[in-house]
Amino acid sequence: MAESMSGFTRSHRCAETVNAHMGELVTLMGWVNKRRNLGSLIFIDLRDRTGLVQLLFDEDNIGTEGFEKAGTLRNEFVIAVRGLVQKRGGAVNENLATGQIEIKVLELRILSESLTPPFPIEDGIQTKDELRLKYRYLDLRRPELQQKIMLRSRVAQSLRAFMTDEGFLEIETPMLCKSTPEGARDYLVPSRVHPGHFYALPQSPQLFKQLLMCAGYDRYFQIAKCFRDEDLRADRQPEFTQIDMEFSFADQHTVMGVNERLIAHIFKEILDVDVELPIKRMTWQEAMDRFGSDKPDIRFGLELKDITNVVKNCGFSVFANAAANGGSVRGITAKGMSDMPRKKIDALGEFVKTYGAKGLAYLGINADGTYKSSFAKFMTPEELSAIAAEMEAEPGDMMFFSADCDKVVYASLGALRLHLGEQMGLIDHSRFEFLWVTEFPLLEYSEEQDRWVAMHHPFTMPMEDDIKYLDTEPWKCRAAAYDIVLNGVELGGGSERIYNPEIQEKMFTALGFTREESYERFGFLLDAFKYGVPPHAGLAFGFDRLMMLMTGAESIRDVIAFPKVKDASCLMTSAPGTVDEKQLDELEICIKPEAEA
Ligand code: AMO
Ligand code: AMP
Repeated sequence: MAESMSGFTRSHRCAETVNAHMGELVTLMGWVNKRRNLGSLIFIDLRDRTGLVQLLFDEDNIGTEGFEKAGTLRNEFVIAVRGLVQKRGGAVNENLATGQIEIKVLELRILSESLTPPFPIEDGIQTKDELRLKYRYLDLRRPELQQKIMLRSRVAQSLRAFMTDEGFLEIETPMLCKSTPEGARDYLVPSRVHPGHFYALPQSPQLFKQLLMCAGYDRYFQIAKCFRDEDLRADRQPEFTQIDMEFSFADQHTVMGVNERLIAHIFKEILDVDVELPIKRMTWQEAMDRFGSDKPDIRFGLELKDITNVVKNCGFSVFANAAANGGSVRGITAKGMSDMPRKKIDALGEFVKTYGAKGLAYLGINADGTYKSSFAKFMTPEELSAIAAEMEAEPGDMMFFSADCDKVVYASLGALRLHLGEQMGLIDHSRFEFLWVTEFPLLEYSEEQDRWVAMHHPFTMPMEDDIKYLDTEPWKCRAAAYDIVLNGVELGGGSERIYNPEIQEKMFTALGFTREESYERFGFLLDAFKYGVPPHAGLAFGFDRLMMLMTGAESIRDVIAFPKVKDASCLMTSAPGTVDEKQLDELEICIKPEAEA
């Protein structure tokens, strides 16, 4: 039977009742974590978000009725106790903040009872994700998750303090926006007042923060919810949070400078980790050439090498053709891996095929200097040793090569590098390696849309030296855009924005929009720029990704209180769901019969 809390006021959280409170009368509330019944004594571990404290019940102190009540306690019951802090009678528990004390209980109230939970409320459980997500409120009671969610709150506070000190204003931007079909797919919200019309949930506050700059709020930030209807992965959710900011009268160097100090501030304050400043910088081209990725994990080597020039005239047609067709041949050298069994090599070949590669050529140098290779028979000994020299390979090493257009070569070797790095144990998981990647291409070709699209977004400024290409060869332009990468994860990105109407017009032309189309989509921004726009630049971090890396979580799901699963549904609330006919009628929406089925 549930009892009232009346007359009881919580005096401490569980783990706060330490030695300093010895002899005090305290009132504690929380969940029964564990019960041990020793006949004349009952021990309960009481739990709240701070941790555990041991309660001691004996009949002399609590009376017969109280003792019997204590005997009915089960895991996850919510109780309130009044009692005295005393030195533990039994062994001290060194692992607990409260390990030296216990509470001699004088009074007990059972505030609510609990069914037996579907999984134990403890760390390191092997329960299936689906079950944990269905009962997320129970999963969230586990100390592991509680630590992560509490750390997230502390980071938000630390961030707010830093940004406020730096002169940023926290301003909210709308959730019901206009759809601007550039970027990912939008989540749409139907309008009742305007039947047939839809709002879009923001993919980011991008346009509004630029308008805030036009409005004179020269430094803005926000912890902003963003929505993108895209395929989910470990580091992607349909609904996620950005640490979003924009600066007026600032270029990329100012933005990067403030953000490095922000990162260093948060890592020091929250994790006591010193981030070495300035953070390393690398151009996009260098990142691709050395690591095959625009978000390189620089905690280990295994860098790519370009051997196109060495093999362009060789007898192995796969290599020679790639070179002749404007592609490249690149490889990585896996030190000491020449013994790799054929089966494993074939598995790597299959692995790179998922990145578009047609195959993976290999050349191993045995300890005696002979070769084992998929292509050595097509080459002269001189060619083979030239390759080995270029690859800096020695006896005992194994080389892997990809020959194709650059895009496929980068993608396949970039992925292979990470895969081998993990397999060979080259990655030090205790390190945080930050990197700025700069000078991104302005445009990238979308096979799907058969046109050039903005790599960052259409408001990104080309680099000053490259503006001259914008009319005639826009694909040659580099952007004043930058990403911040941590341990191979894209943590954030930003750019200087176009504030000059002529450049913006050229950009829209390069993207294949007519004047009318660009006005239809972004007219309000273009109009705002006619009334005195300051030069501005900004950046957004993925807050969930930052928390994932700071807590060592494997997925951003573990740092979001109520995440969604791969098909974007919520297993706890069963969202998305169908709605009443009446709601649809109000919105004047009919569901296609196929969808209804
Ligand atoms: P961008 O699209 O690069 O830039 O997003 C910024 C950062 O947000 C995070 N992120 C995500 N996190 C979780 N789930 C997702 N689906 C997801 N998508 C993105 C990433 C990413 O680096 N308006 C610009 C920023 C600017 O230019 O100021 C923007 O949104 O960590
Ligand atoms: P094949 O001539 O198709 O039997 O291929 C000979 C070797 O070259 C095999 O090890 C293939 O995996 C490899 N290979 C095929 N295509 C490519 C490619 N585009 N890049 C690198 N290696 C390749």
